[in-house]
Amino acid sequence: MANDSNRFQAIISHAKEYGFVFPSSEIYDGLQAVYDYGQWGSELKKNIKDYWWDSMTRMYENIVGIDAAIFMHPTTWKASGHIDNFNDPMIDNKDSKKRYRVDHLIETWAEDKAFSFKTKKVYPEHLKDVQGFMDERIDIPNPTEGNQPSDDAQKAKSVLEEMDKLLAKDDFVGLKKLIEENDIRCPISETCNWTDIRQFNLMFSTEFGSTVSSEDEDNKVYLRPETAQGIFVNFLNVQKTGRMKIPFGIAQIGKAFRNEIVARQFIFRMREFEQMEMQFFIPPGTQKKWYEFWKEERMKWHLGLGIPKENYRFHNHVKLAHYADAACDIEFNFPIGFKEVEGIHSRTDFDLKNHQEYSKKKMQYFDNDIDPATGKPYGNYIPYVIETSIGLDRMFLLVMSHAYEEQDLSTAEKQDSRVVLKLPNKLAPVKLAVLPLVKKDGLPEIARKIMDDCKSSFRCFYEEKDTIGKRYRRMDAIGTPFCVTVDQQTKEDNTVTIRYRDTMQQDRIPLSQIKEIVSKVIL
Ligand code: GAP
Repeated sequence: MANDSNRFQAIISHAKEYGFVFPSSEIYDGLQAVYDYGQWGSELKKNIKDYWWDSMTRMYENIVGIDAAIFMHPTTWKASGHIDNFNDPMIDNKDSKKRYRVDHLIETWAEDKAFSFKTKKVYPEHLKDVQGFMDERIDIPNPTEGNQPSDDAQKAKSVLEEMDKLLAKDDFVGLKKLIEENDIRCPISETCNWTDIRQFNLMFSTEFGSTVSSEDEDNKVYLRPETAQGIFVNFLNVQKTGRMKIPFGIAQIGKAFRNEIVARQFIFRMREFEQMEMQFFIPPGTQKKWYEFWKEERMKWHLGLGIPKENYRFHNHVKLAHYADAACDIEFNFPIGFKEVEGIHSRTDFDLKNHQEYSKKKMQYFDNDIDPATGKPYGNYIPYVIETSIGLDRMFLLVMSHAYEEQDLSTAEKQDSRVVLKLPNKLAPVKLAVLPLVKKDGLPEIARKIMDDCKSSFRCFYEEKDTIGKRYRRMDAIGTPFCVTVDQQTKEDNTVTIRYRDTMQQDRIPLSQIKEIVSKVIL
């Protein structure tokens, strides 16, 4: 692949072509920044969830899991600070009275400016669907001979880059100036008569009941923007019913919703996504120690998948969220550069303290352990919290990005290539493909027996259509680590050919060993 941008687009294209990720409601042209997981994508996603859930709730004896509802009492979001602090900038046109998200306004203008360039064919044939599939803002490829971006397209790109910088700094004066200086007009009134930029909350809301009006703030409920609050409001329930002793953790996997300002780059930033979060409750004053502990543990979890460590790095937050006294991201080297996949946050007692204040329920814990600072028992306190928060969809993208490989297998005699997903075995959607060489001579019957023997232990896939070479390639493309082929010799000596995805090496093994060989490497 020529460059990382092409590689990213090839991965997106591959994800669609092989049933991993589809645009949501695609028959209606999709819904921006919302995606559906297909037959193999949902398997891969489930395997990532299991890897996280099992390591959190089984490997640490003091962590338990919960599954809280998406809807929560609206006061939750007042207490958590999301109603007051979770915002995006908006601007109004004084003539048309229409309101726009600042990034949308600028992006639409930029797309129009670059339109003449975009209509030229700049993507390779096999990626021709990608522009529509990706919720990508205009992507101006590196100039190639005879295919130079127009001045307008270059201008659009530099304005978008400037916009990103200003958004990151919350510089609303600068953003308004950018709009005015570039004569970005309201698509309705076609004037440049703008109000100042104001904040807009990122939470999606709806109403409970059928008779309430949308003006009725009391009945407004939110789709949770993070799963963490479901854990905080259940802190007492879990602590008491589970007789949990601090330090202990509560883990949860679930959907979160954000009306994202910059929603693009495929599943990297979505409006509906899934989080895998764990809140670890600790005595006040011990947060530095536990923060370092969880940084190390989480990095070990990532490296446990066998992805080399040079692909990861920590990034310490300079600008801290309203609830944190320390925070860092684990970043991964995606084809779009090093980006956050997981956050580790020292959240102090911010959340529990606020829930105590708003709910008037005591969030205190009585601790008999000795506080080393005073030499006396800790007594009553509101626990401090270290949070680990990883995006499931982002982890999915990480795994796909690392696994995707295009290989040139050409020899002097013939041209050949393959796309292989070198997924960690334990995450692969299918572990074993069972392939009768031909559809006759009793071979399908033997293959079916292998299926029956193995399918309750791990995910198997049976296929008899097409040449064996084509079937191998299809299994490579979805990351299946093992294929076994049943042929005439199987009938004579009860052996099959096993083919290994990464090396393409083939060995002859007894039928009786298949299950053991596969089971050994998928744990
Ligand atoms: N409870 C803390 C919290 O939600 P965050 O840094 O906003 O912290 C945690 O989100 C993780 O959730 C991120 O590291 C990222 O992996 C994922 N995430 C956040 N917003 C996302 C989005 N719009 N689309 C996909 N994943 C997202």
